Amino acid sequence: MNSLVIRRPDDWHVHLRDGPMLAHVLDFTARQFARAIVMPNLDPPVVTTADAVAYRGRITARLRPGRDFAPLMTAYLTDGTDPADLTAGFERRIFTAAKLYPAHATTNSAKGVGDIRRIAPVLAAMERIGMPLLVHGEVTEPSVDIFDREAVFLDRVLAPVLRDFPGLKVVCEHITTEEAVGFVLAAGDRVAATITPHHLQFSRNAIFQGGIRPHFYCLPILKREKHRLALRKAATSGSPKFFLGTDTAPHAVHTKENACGCAGVFNAPVALEAYLTVFDEEGALDRFEAFASEHGARFHGLPLNEGTVRLVREPLAVPERCEGEGVSVVPYHAGTTLPWRMVAG
Ligand code: NCD
Ligand code: ZN
Repeated sequence: MNSLVIRRPDDWHVHLRDGPMLAHVLDFTARQFARAIVMPNLDPPVVTTADAVAYRGRITARLRPGRDFAPLMTAYLTDGTDPADLTAGFERRIFTAAKLYPAHATTNSAKGVGDIRRIAPVLAAMERIGMPLLVHGEVTEPSVDIFDREAVFLDRVLAPVLRDFPGLKVVCEHITTEEAVGFVLAAGDRVAATITPHHLQFSRNAIFQGGIRPHFYCLPILKREKHRLALRKAATSGSPKFFLGTDTAPHAVHTKENACGCAGVFNAPVALEAYLTVFDEEGALDRFEAFASEHGARFHGLPLNEGTVRLVREPLAVPERCEGEGVSVVPYHAGTTLPWRMVAG
């Protein structure tokens, strides 16, 4: 097959940032996806309904004329989140979901949740109204090895939450391990997961290939090869529990190529192409549309998109840098060639 037409897809996990970076990166996502779940980890974070209305306005104001793209907003949970405001924001369809960042787990998470037991009233309200909880699933204790933080989180934090809130809908975001795949499969219909292109394409070896490679540093960190293989099997299995979420996380080049470099892979410029390469390698082109355009919408109870995008088996040369708005970012697969290319819908 040399050409594939699929229903317009959605990205269920993106960092669009703010200011000049937002202006620079937005169209890379908006040209490929009809909708995207927008992460709230700005500085300061998007906590209240009013914050989300303002941020959504800054995003839509920067859309290119004619782009049909809907940002789906999320609330950043803190120890002080007001259940009444969260509920009102969801019921007014300002918020699509709420995001749990364990405090200090990742970029701009310092104001995240210190102890999940403290937000029990918030989780109870979300369970009651059917508002999904999106989880950055890593413990933050320095005593836990960075490669084990996801598996430990599932056991110690998420399993008790699922027990205590049996109706709460949960998305385990950017899963990276065999353990997470097993956990999600065993957990019943209300638990699903997103998987990034970089966790499908690279193991932790990529971070250290011939020297230190900061553009492969992200959180949760890339894992061993056996985990990558388990993720590829899950993503291409056809299970409705797994769907597309790029975790595109742009950082200016000088903040990545730094003695203390930021975590994040900027994969928006080649997101569909990277995922499709994986599905092609796995002999699962026929399952790509469901992963990219159906499973996530069904989980969130949203309509499927109208319209299509077309991908063709033609070389896509990825630039070394994406520059604009005074910002320079190194894209995923910089300087290499991918075998698929998105063309117009
Ligand atoms: C994200 C960022 O930079 O905002 N970084 C990352 O490595 N994925 C935060 C996150 O999703 O963990
Ligand atoms: Zn993220």
